[in-house]
Amino acid sequence: MKIKYLALIFKICSKFYLSKTMSNSRYLMFNFSIKNPPINFVSLQTISMKKDFLKYQAQTTPHPLAMEVSHAEGSYIYDTNNKEYLDFVAGVSACSLGHRHPRVVNAIKKQLDSYLHVMVYGEYVQKSAVELTKLLASLLPNPLEKTYLTNSGTEAIEGALKLAKRYTGRSELIAANNAYHGNTHGALSVMGFEERKQAFRPLLPDVHFIQFNNEEDLEKITTKTAGVILETIQGGAGFIVPTNNYLKKVKQRCVEVGALLILDEIQPGFGRTGKLFGFQHYDVIPDVLVMGKGMGGGMPVGAFTASAEIMDTLQEQPKLGHITTFGGHPVIAAASLATLKEITESTLMAQTVLKEELFRELLQHKYIEEIRGKGLMLSLIVKNAAVANQIILGCLEEGLILFWLLFEPKAVRITPPLTISKDEIKQGCAVIMKVLRTIKD
Ligand SMILES: Cc1ncc(COP(=O)(O)O)c(C=O)c1O
Repeated sequence: MKIKYLALIFKICSKFYLSKTMSNSRYLMFNFSIKNPPINFVSLQTISMKKDFLKYQAQTTPHPLAMEVSHAEGSYIYDTNNKEYLDFVAGVSACSLGHRHPRVVNAIKKQLDSYLHVMVYGEYVQKSAVELTKLLASLLPNPLEKTYLTNSGTEAIEGALKLAKRYTGRSELIAANNAYHGNTHGALSVMGFEERKQAFRPLLPDVHFIQFNNEEDLEKITTKTAGVILETIQGGAGFIVPTNNYLKKVKQRCVEVGALLILDEIQPGFGRTGKLFGFQHYDVIPDVLVMGKGMGGGMPVGAFTASAEIMDTLQEQPKLGHITTFGGHPVIAAASLATLKEITESTLMAQTVLKEELFRELLQHKYIEEIRGKGLMLSLIVKNAAVANQIILGCLEEGLILFWLLFEPKAVRITPPLTISKDEIKQGCAVIMKVLRTIKD
């Protein structure tokens, strides 16, 4: 009898809670509802955890997806109701080798048994960081030789912007409309989307914008310019690839005026487009290369690489030109080294090209206007934002994770782990097609 009572109370509480948390959300906006959530002890715990998540952990939107994660393995994430989700997002291009890749996990465990943080960045010789930067240098074209390790992508961008200013002695920075480079003040200053930065002004002065892929705008790069920062493939804008030798022409212009070309490879880097770095498709070598996300195999990391001549300017006038406590952390560096070895020693990059073809072949529907991007950095550009929302939320209900892009509301993100199998791609694409068929004109 008591148990019956308890079950009834659980049911009433959970229904009330779910209706509360979903009100005012994108779920209601698109008339989306989760079908009969099973009510048991686990889901009661979930409800209380979600409540605490919303109450105590700072949120960045009023309507987070709030999936409660139990565990993750390979291409799958499992929630606390043991529902399995095929992951076509990979932590937003970060879990390049899927979840808990054994090589990454073993490298982390091995490092945990030796030492954790021992000193601020760059003072002590720590094997995993040295091996990582040395291996990177061997894989990069000359003169990209010295790498500075940071804790995140946005911090690497900060370092790269400072480096361009320090090396050239100039202050002007040029960035692209609709560019995304991170969320700290410097990175925000070079973000090309006014709506998202207006509230945080004043930002860095002397920042100007050009249109990505527009050659006429290259005149705006002058002898006053310290650095031009571009994403090799524009991510938040909708996965826009450079056309007509654009990046090569930007580099030529930079050389003419003595400015540095900074390429942000935080998203396309580490094999996602079928080469280790996206710029390797476009016959151009940046002066400063910025990386992050997939570099860590699921751990937080960033880095920027330049020639010794450029990078060494951070050592003097002033000395300690860029410092961090945790950058180059031995555990993160070990994870990153294992990730880099796995990506470069396996056939993963070659397979990326074939996997892209499979996605393009399987995802054909009248609502898909275009598939943008390269390799496993793809976005479906659909009829309108409402269709994009219905695909993303409908697929989630069917156990497939997709996501939005920052500045293109008609886009659906597909950036699975590089380790995703062809069968998993077929399985996920079948779900997308099934959901597409339910969307009414
Ligand atoms: C192209 C690009 N640059 C910079 C960043 C910022 O990296 P992080 O979120 O690690 O600071 C991101 C993250 O989404 C990105 O996609």
